[in-house]
Amino acid sequence: MPYQVIIPAAGQGKRMGAGKNKLLLTLEGVPILIHTLRVFEADAECSGIILAINPSDEQQFKSLLKEYDIHKLSSLVTGGKERQDSVYNGLMAVHSLDGIVLVHDAARPFIRIETIHNLVEAASKEGGSIVAVPVKDTIKKAANGRVAETVERSSLWSVQTPQAFRASVLLEAHNKAMREQFVGTDESSLVERIPHPVSIIEGDYDNIKLTTPEDLYFAEAILRKRKESGV
Ligand code: CTP
Ligand code: MG
Repeated sequence: MPYQVIIPAAGQGKRMGAGKNKLLLTLEGVPILIHTLRVFEADAECSGIILAINPSDEQQFKSLLKEYDIHKLSSLVTGGKERQDSVYNGLMAVHSLDGIVLVHDAARPFIRIETIHNLVEAASKEGGSIVAVPVKDTIKKAANGRVAETVERSSLWSVQTPQAFRASVLLEAHNKAMREQFVGTDESSLVERIPHPVSIIEGDYDNIKLTTPEDLYFAEAILRKRKESGV
């Protein structure tokens, strides 16, 4: 099932504290941005990549795309103030509103093609689907430094990207959010407000978002593990 993917890459990487967009940091000599793009470049089902970038990164990103032979880029769009704005700008470049569109953080380089395919299949049936993993920690609600409640863990999921939707559904969700000045931390939260059902595809714990400096140690370990096991 073919799909297009919007990749928001227009952040500043403030929590990484690298003094530049964290996506330019390298893992085994290759920029994080390229690790992520290579997954979609290699997936025959992916018909096009829409990349949202910060204009100040444009020259550097363009030369990396050339250097690493990334050919599937169908649009380069300007990112916005919030991640949601960057995704919206990407959505404006989607070819067909009948098709499936994925949104995937550039900062998650370890997504597996198998998970992407499971997600796309679910989204094509139901209109909306997200990748998530069961929460491992015990989660408590608190107020004023005191425990208010222990939340039943079996119903909790830690949500990742990619998230996949029929493009028309995602556009409707964004338009409603814009009208109502709602800002969410993921696409699903916008789609849920339509309301439109969103199903969950279980992914894996490797699909981390590289956010703070210690995540780079985990990333090196994941790459090493994959090299050793050959998958
Ligand atoms: N992103 C984006 N546009 C924004 C903010 C974020 O395209 N205005 C992208 C980032 O480049 C990243 C993804 O959204 O690939 C997830 O965001 P996050 O991990 O928060 O990255 P940053 O915003 O760059 O980091 P920070 O919040 O620490 O500044
Ligand atoms: Mg951010």
